[in-house]
Amino acid sequence: MCGIIGITAMPHSLPRGVASLIVKALLRLEYRGYDSAGVAGIVGNAIVVRKARGKIEEVSRRLGFKEIRSYCMIGHTRWATHGIPSDNNAHPHTDCRNWFAVVHNGILENHAELRRFLEEKGHVFRSDTDTEVLPHLVEDFFLKSEDVMEAFKKAIDAVRGSYAFAMISVHEPDRIFYAKNKNPLVIGLGNGFNAVASDIAALIELTRRIIVLRDGWHGYISPREIKLYNGRGEPVDWRKYVITVEWSIEDASKSGYPHYMLKEIMEQPVALHNTLAGIKKDKAIDKAVDILLDAEKIYVTAAGTSYHAGLYYALLTSILSGTLVHPFIASEYELYTKTISEGDAVIAVSQSGETMDTLNAVREAKKRGARVIAVSNIIESSIPRESNVTIYTRAGPEIGVAATKTFTSQALALYWLSVHHALATGKITRAEASNLLREAEKTPGLTRKAIEKTKPIAERLAEKISGARSIYVLSRGIGVPVAMEGALKVKEIGYIHAEAYPAGESKHGPIALVEEEFPVVFIVPNDPRLVDLLKGNIEEMKSRGALTIGVLSTNTCSECKLDIRIETPTANKLLVPFTHTPFMQLLSYYIAVNKGYDPDKPRNLAKTVTVE
Ligand code: G6P
Repeated sequence: MCGIIGITAMPHSLPRGVASLIVKALLRLEYRGYDSAGVAGIVGNAIVVRKARGKIEEVSRRLGFKEIRSYCMIGHTRWATHGIPSDNNAHPHTDCRNWFAVVHNGILENHAELRRFLEEKGHVFRSDTDTEVLPHLVEDFFLKSEDVMEAFKKAIDAVRGSYAFAMISVHEPDRIFYAKNKNPLVIGLGNGFNAVASDIAALIELTRRIIVLRDGWHGYISPREIKLYNGRGEPVDWRKYVITVEWSIEDASKSGYPHYMLKEIMEQPVALHNTLAGIKKDKAIDKAVDILLDAEKIYVTAAGTSYHAGLYYALLTSILSGTLVHPFIASEYELYTKTISEGDAVIAVSQSGETMDTLNAVREAKKRGARVIAVSNIIESSIPRESNVTIYTRAGPEIGVAATKTFTSQALALYWLSVHHALATGKITRAEASNLLREAEKTPGLTRKAIEKTKPIAERLAEKISGARSIYVLSRGIGVPVAMEGALKVKEIGYIHAEAYPAGESKHGPIALVEEEFPVVFIVPNDPRLVDLLKGNIEEMKSRGALTIGVLSTNTCSECKLDIRIETPTANKLLVPFTHTPFMQLLSYYIAVNKGYDPDKPRNLAKTVTVE
């Protein structure tokens, strides 16, 4: 989705102005997915705008972003919603007199009527975007009051929808005006400068002192001043909201890896270690267990990869506590939340904490009286803020669009929750719980071994199957969410159609597609009962000519009819996400590399989806 950056610095604090910092920040925002890039800066008494469709580095070089000598600039990466990807539709957008330049994330629902109204008054529009109404509105209000803040406030009051805005103006040449509703926006505090951004990762090189803005908050920043108002227009003491983020620059850079995705796969042992250390320290698990104990029904909801972590949790909880957890895909929330009543518990899993579908599910669940437990990687993001308690994963920033280290971190946090819940319900003994928690402590090591053992084979196998048109990823029981996550990775990164389902379903339809050399990957949990059942499914596929690939621990199922054995470390049968996921992540990664695709920026996808 779109990205925003704005920096205002003391004049002459930097020899060449802030343009190169803006470009660097835009590059940090690239991972969110975009089709165009642009910047606007105050130069003398005017606004200079440069923008075009294309990749930041190329557009910036061609249009000379870095040559703009400005101390107050905004920048944007656009992911088209209203209006096709084009130079004109790229942000920033300006008014008729070029007094205001605006960048925007989100969707303005009433843009058509506002545009009509403004055009009737003589405003001339230059793009097809919903965003462009904003600078024209500000211009219109400014002509009456000659006060930029007042005009900006009136303009944001006039628009309906979701937004994060940043705006510069020739009339207040060192200020960046900002407003937030439903789309993320943060302020970064610096020495001699201040900044706004849609994403903490964009600011990491500049500062770690951050204010995460809430809905309705707006105001402006200058190099030495922050003005912050709430939705009712009352001043907010921003000092109370400053947090210090722990992420380092290395966390948000490739550190010598060719792609973020590979770096993030390799980082999983550290991410798991930090997640464990974090959940042991804070009280979130205890609070969450209290909510679960009081609940009549328990739901888990999420989108994409996070949904697979949620499904793993649901299966685990039925195994450990004998409690049925209802999993549902967040975008289907309208249907499922109808069954939620007062006192129920909803677990909302979202690495970004901003996914609109999941946020909608949270809001609806709360409206119906449920208590919400968030599992998120981003401190102070919307979903945690609107939930009763948040269990934070500590995976560090995930830049690759496809979730990797956040998946295993979520699975670990949810495993920890499920074990504590089972203990509290008396379904497992203290000794059993201690045992299961000790197993969880092994996950960083297990994942490290899984990566080491499977990486070279994933690379070789990717070469062999890159040309496949379709792949099945099958498992049973607790392995099914891991198979689903594996298939999603192959699809979104390797661009091969991949389908996952419980292996027992093969005979009810999917097997019709199987022909010579059709790759079928089996995620075989370390559970004799499941191994036994899967043995039959492997046989079934092999006899139709499939290329059977088994992901399983050493010495498991030696009699299975597998063409390729991918050996993973031996571990407790419940720890499938940690032993089996790295192989599927690496396989997808190498398929993409092999086919010449960028695994960090899969086509048509965005990291954080803040629209329905
Ligand atoms: C997008 C991303 C996925 C991610 C999903 C949910 O579709 O491309 O990788 O799993 O959103 O994101 P969340 O931040 O809520 O976990």
